[in-house]
Amino acid sequence: MCGIIGYAGPRKALPLVIQGLRLLEYRGYDSAGVALGGSGSIRVFKKEGKLANLEAVLPASSAAKCGIGHTRWATHGAVSDANAHPHLGPAGKVALVHNGIVDNWAELKRELEAAGAAFASETDSEILAHLVERELSRLGPSCPRSGAIEAVAAALGRVSGTYGLACVFADFPGLIVGARNGSPLAVGVGEGECFIASDPAAFAAHTRQAVFLRDGELAAIDAKGWQTRTLRGEAVLRGAETIPEAAGLADKGAHPDFFLKEVYEQPQAVERTLGGRLVREYGNAKLGGIELSPREMHGISEVVFLGMGTALHAAMSGKALVEAWARVPARAEDASEFRAANPIVDPAALYVAVSQSGETADTLAAVREVQAKGGRVVGLVNSVGSSLARLCGAGVYLHAGQELSVAASKSYLAQVTGCALIALSLGRARHLSIGEGRRVVDELVALPAKIDEALSLRPRVEELAARIASPGRPAPSVLFLGRGFLYPAALEGALKLKELSYLHAEGFAGGALKHGPLALVGPETPTIALIAPGASYERTLSNIAEVRARRGPVIAVCPGAPEGLREEVDELFALPPCMEELAPVLELVPLQLLARSVASALGRDVDRPRNLAKSVTTE
Ligand code: G6P
Repeated sequence: MCGIIGYAGPRKALPLVIQGLRLLEYRGYDSAGVALGGSGSIRVFKKEGKLANLEAVLPASSAAKCGIGHTRWATHGAVSDANAHPHLGPAGKVALVHNGIVDNWAELKRELEAAGAAFASETDSEILAHLVERELSRLGPSCPRSGAIEAVAAALGRVSGTYGLACVFADFPGLIVGARNGSPLAVGVGEGECFIASDPAAFAAHTRQAVFLRDGELAAIDAKGWQTRTLRGEAVLRGAETIPEAAGLADKGAHPDFFLKEVYEQPQAVERTLGGRLVREYGNAKLGGIELSPREMHGISEVVFLGMGTALHAAMSGKALVEAWARVPARAEDASEFRAANPIVDPAALYVAVSQSGETADTLAAVREVQAKGGRVVGLVNSVGSSLARLCGAGVYLHAGQELSVAASKSYLAQVTGCALIALSLGRARHLSIGEGRRVVDELVALPAKIDEALSLRPRVEELAARIASPGRPAPSVLFLGRGFLYPAALEGALKLKELSYLHAEGFAGGALKHGPLALVGPETPTIALIAPGASYERTLSNIAEVRARRGPVIAVCPGAPEGLREEVDELFALPPCMEELAPVLELVPLQLLARSVASALGRDVDRPRNLAKSVTTE
């Protein structure tokens, strides 16, 4: 969740580190800091709040040619200047930035305190700086540069937990040592310069050659090059890979925030997810990355989708689509619960890990658990070259494009579309006729234009948002109700509103209404009813009637505006007609717009909601 960037080379480090932090800030943004390595001393600057606060206290310029930076999402210790990274060792000989959690921090802290250590912060990360410095002093003042990597390795030998970290040293100017265990770290190999970062996007504008560290590995970089080894001292001989072109600091264009920009990019995002993957003639989808023959697909006993947050909601849509089209048992699992429960892994099942970033710690851990038990996992991932994409080794890239707003939007639509492609190809290998397959293909092809049309609802959605966010009297809660294919969309609609506006929102299945949510219904609490012509239509209409009978205002979202619906609700957002199975894709569009408009009416930071982070890289 935190972002790490480091530079060692002939150029001035400070502007490069700040540029990298700007690209990483979306990952965590409660404080930021930099450390500039020099001859004999290290200068550290750190500040609570957004990057702009740090920039205000930085020197106008610095000659340092080596530096590290960090943007924090607090796990251990409150949000404050003192808890911001980098952390110095007690003698100022090392400065360290860390992403992850030290599990045995209490024991280590007690040990260090017993030896007289005093800590300047409440973080577990500062303990690491103390440990590295203790190892350096053991090696003595004449320790060579290689001693720095020894010291970091020895210190980490005492640590259990997760880390992606980078250190600079007072006595080894120009040197950065990094290490990885559970949190991503990559070395960027440039011409006479090197970078280190938690996300290669932070250095991709300078070099596209990256070496991805694996768990238990360390790297040392300086202007002359890089070397990697394991914690135990074995050499790691791994070449650099070419990473995708730098996306650069994305531009919001004419939009006030990235979220809205990304919502408007959805037609193209879905088009790219579908790109070249539909075969109309056979009513099928061709997924080169999955490489399962029809016979192998036929042998799949169950499909298990894994994800967190929005990706979990897309996974739930995946379950519904696979069961509908392929008639294969399917389920969607919260990756954190799944991996914690000692899962029963069936080697004949297909596990699908769904993730925008490909860096979500719980999803990665769930995949490792499945793989360790002999299961077969494919990824449905947006971020090319991410940890999840590399771990799965096979899968479907979403190609939704870079998503910077913390709350997911276009990645969700792309994920549901990706799930539909998997369901279609499994369906065609098992249950779906060519005619039914062609109908699905036609509906998928038509989807981008319909998403575009759905965006034209924005002015009306804004009027509704103004009522929900009414000054001084915002709605106490907003309920989102959906059945069948639209149940996951109701959860996602509620999540969006909650994330962006901080209003209470609850998504539930229509059938659950009378089992609790109905108690929340009243004139002040709007219910957004997701409905579509199909199997659940009549029963959702009954839910609408039940809410209205209790004077709860109902706003329905429905493809095709079926006759009579308008009279049954207080307001109707009619979408272009589409098949029931794909309605979640279309229906989310006005819900995303609603969440954004409510948030902006309430003065929230739409792109960076409080307390949240784009990638949750700690468990
Ligand atoms: C965080 C983000 C969400 C995202 C979730 C899963 O909670 O704020 O927007 O849906 O992580 O992330 P992933 O990158 O795995 O899709």
